Amino acid sequence: MEALFLTSSSSSIASPTKLLHNRRDWCALVRDKRRLSPTWCRVGGDGRNIKPERSIMVSSLLKDRGQVLIREQSSPAMDAETLVLSPNDNGRAIEINGVKTLLPFSGAAKVGSKEGLGIVSFLQGKKFLITGSTGFLAKVLIEKVLRMAPDVGKIYLLIKAKNKEAAVERLKNEVLNAELFNTLRETHGASYQSFMLDKLVPVTGNICDSNIGLQADSAEEIAKEVDVIINSAANTTFNERYDVALDINTRGPGNLMGFAKKCKKLKLFLQVSTAYVNGQRQGRIMEKPFSMGDCIATENFLEGNRKALDVDREMNLAIDAVRKGNQDQEEAQKMKDLGLERARSYGWQDTYVFTKAMGEMMINSTRGDVPVVIIRPSVIESTYKDPFPGWMEGNRMMDPIVLCYGKGQLTGFLVDPKGVLDVVPADMVVNATLAAIAKHGVAKTDQEPEINVFDNSNTQRLMEYMSEAEKNEFGFDVGNINWKDYITNVHIPGLRKHVLKGRA
Ligand SMILES: NC(=O)c1ccc[n+]([C@@H]2O[C@H](COP(=O)([O-])OP(=O)(O)OC[C@H]3O[C@@H](n4cnc5c(N)ncnc54)[C@H](OP(=O)(O)O)[C@@H]3O)[C@@H](O)[C@H]2O)c1
Repeated sequence: MEALFLTSSSSSIASPTKLLHNRRDWCALVRDKRRLSPTWCRVGGDGRNIKPERSIMVSSLLKDRGQVLIREQSSPAMDAETLVLSPNDNGRAIEINGVKTLLPFSGAAKVGSKEGLGIVSFLQGKKFLITGSTGFLAKVLIEKVLRMAPDVGKIYLLIKAKNKEAAVERLKNEVLNAELFNTLRETHGASYQSFMLDKLVPVTGNICDSNIGLQADSAEEIAKEVDVIINSAANTTFNERYDVALDINTRGPGNLMGFAKKCKKLKLFLQVSTAYVNGQRQGRIMEKPFSMGDCIATENFLEGNRKALDVDREMNLAIDAVRKGNQDQEEAQKMKDLGLERARSYGWQDTYVFTKAMGEMMINSTRGDVPVVIIRPSVIESTYKDPFPGWMEGNRMMDPIVLCYGKGQLTGFLVDPKGVLDVVPADMVVNATLAAIAKHGVAKTDQEPEINVFDNSNTQRLMEYMSEAEKNEFGFDVGNINWKDYITNVHIPGLRKHVLKGRA
């Protein structure tokens, strides 16, 4: 997982090294033999200290389907049917007239609000604008913030909906009702809904629209109040129509940054990106932000004539193609093909990662003096332990193959036995995100731009700033994960319980 911090004046980020897989190889499986780890954390910005994590040998993980199933059944703590919520001792509920209600929360005290990075104390009273809250990752983030810092200020959630009522309905159905929030539900008992609706403010909007589609009154309030913006909204379909993917993943972050610049108290803009914005870079890859026009094909000398990527031209190309098309099925396929063709010609694997990379370029080129953190997780999978192991949503990335194999629909598949799984649990992504926010969530500076002033923090270095209590509650040391155990006893049971919902 990469974490880039762009200060108000940085023109580049120091570059620790990393090893990257080529996602085209096979969903999450990696063929690059040089790759040591299933997922990674970055260390200091000086290129030192890359920490190899344990590989999961895919062949040993999945070669014996029977073995996987037997292990599941014989693991009482993590069995799919008996996944138990970890007891939440951050807050206590009492019963009044048979109804659970809330007692004061002690999470902050437990972590020690001022120690280490001061994550909890940073969160207290802060106001957030979060996009993508009906999606997988942002839910895990919202849950963690509300559990660890219930005295956080408002969290505005940008939700696509035709009106305010519809947005509230989506919030209730898709967020509040999610099983992920069971711990909070337990803690708050009868007050759960009122607590959640007091903290979470749904606002209708769309990052593809100018001013992110906000109504004037919401826009004014949020611009006045918000401290941190987190952009988790995306279209994650690898072969989406080019115009659609560009709109959400490239133009969207630009629109949101446009709005961010109007936010008077804004301390940080955090973009959730993906490790695969590195496209077809090979071997050790330097961590650095994208500048407008960067092009992997050119870096790799795949293009003899040093092709330049022009993001505006790409957007115009897509608009023109739509204009000329007749909107039928065949035309939709052409727009998908166009995305893949453009992505590959510039050195990215697919439309998703290409448009996400261009989204980073938009942010970097328009941010002015807005402090920005870019988090680049690899494939995000089920929670490792927080708020309980195995929670996830959706059936994508490596999971369709895992499920087909588990159901016996796929009896085998070719894979490099030395390949590794490049995944990171969702709760660790969230912990790293919150740590990065606390570390870098400082108000805008009025400093004159300086050349090469940058913060080299990355995920590993970030951990060094954390207190022991913070490491316990907000840890993201993927090196400590027993990956085989995680996949077989946490992730696969979680998949069965939360995605298949008990269906065979
Ligand atoms: N999942 C992974 O393995 C992975 C790995 C690395 C990075 N990431 C990044 O992590 C972030 C979150 O991923 P995820 O897995 O949580 O995605 P997800 O489950 O597909 O959720 C996407 C979210 O974005 C929202 N959205 C889409 N278009 C929008 C628009 N025009 N305006 C406002 N909201 C919009 C969706 O809202 P609707 O419900 O209304 O469509 C949904 O809430 C993304 O930025 C993704 O690129 C994901």
